[in-house]
Amino acid sequence: MHIPFNKPYFTGNETQYIRDAVSSLKISGDGLFTKKCHDFFEKKYGFKKVLLTTSCTDALEMAAILLNIKEGDEVIAPSFTFVSTVNAFVLRGAKIIFCDSGTDNPNIDVDAIESLITQNTKVIIPVHYAGIACDMDKIMGLANKYNLFVVEDAAQAIDSFYKDRPLGSFGHMAAFSFHETKNIISGEGGMLVINDERFINRAEIIREKGTNRSSFFRGEVDKYGWVDIGSSFLPSDMIAAFLFAQIENLENIQNKRKDIWLNYYNGLKELEDKKYIKLPFIPEYATNNAHMFYLQCNNLQERTRLIDHLKKSQINAVFHYLSLHKSPYYSSKHDQRDLPNSDRYSDCLLRLPMFYELTKEQVKFVCDEITNFYLHH
Ligand SMILES: Cc1ncc(COP(=O)(O)O)c(C=O)c1O
Repeated sequence: MHIPFNKPYFTGNETQYIRDAVSSLKISGDGLFTKKCHDFFEKKYGFKKVLLTTSCTDALEMAAILLNIKEGDEVIAPSFTFVSTVNAFVLRGAKIIFCDSGTDNPNIDVDAIESLITQNTKVIIPVHYAGIACDMDKIMGLANKYNLFVVEDAAQAIDSFYKDRPLGSFGHMAAFSFHETKNIISGEGGMLVINDERFINRAEIIREKGTNRSSFFRGEVDKYGWVDIGSSFLPSDMIAAFLFAQIENLENIQNKRKDIWLNYYNGLKELEDKKYIKLPFIPEYATNNAHMFYLQCNNLQERTRLIDHLKKSQINAVFHYLSLHKSPYYSSKHDQRDLPNSDRYSDCLLRLPMFYELTKEQVKFVCDEITNFYLHH
């Protein structure tokens, strides 16, 4: 049986809602379904303002524009992350100061951040890896102490919490992804959450090509025009229609994914107890939104052999980010510091198949194959 790494899950209402959007003859941005999605997220998570975007990357680019990032500004972010986390800020001229990951999990090492702060530091970007919260009390404490902005990269963190408060509600802003690999999806898609009211007006303008079109449609101004820089960051209402069908099933999707996650955990616990592998560590302050199931091998060669072993059984397990401080684009700009934990996750972390329709038997098969690899090789 072939087990892909990911398989998008359709809840059933997606095409109907897209048809509804089409019938309404309003399929460009900010139609009925976009509004429904905004209302849902604002109510459910208490976010001050939500704006759907065409991707998490776009939401991050909006954040960089909103914070007036310019040449010479420094942005502190983990090296073990997706390029968009920092590329959005590099586009505005920022210098990225890469921080190492912690030893317990791939999230930014909060105790290493303070020593990286300089006169030029403007933003800290915590990435909630695998939907597991960074230590937001410590990060917001540093932001307050040094007067910095915080943009949460919550691409993987929908419906996950830190000390009972939803991720995405801590930073001045947060960016989420609805790419087809995420828990709830719209193909490509994302949203910018704005928790600091000062940014709301301008965010609407930046998202609408630098115009005050949103105010115009609300009847607040009698004509609209070019008032700032911006781009086209808003998705078509057909994308929002798709997303709304997913949102309506959020609880069901989350419960199913958490079941799968636990089955993996229980199925592999013995290997961890025998010290063959390491399983994910979830701090007490964090919840698990079951975005991802990963394990850690002891080294790169072992991981490569395990991937090959699983491939022979038609199981598609994949590694994840390569440290950005060593990337072809940024290595010459990085300040030479070693970031050993980031490199270790780059070499040793392996993500297992994780999607709604993964059956208990399939999870058992994957766990058995991994057990075979360690106990019989
Ligand atoms: C941590 C992180 N940030 C940002 C992104 C970019 O998301 P998108 O594909 O919606 O632009 C991803 C994508 O997977 C991600 O993992």
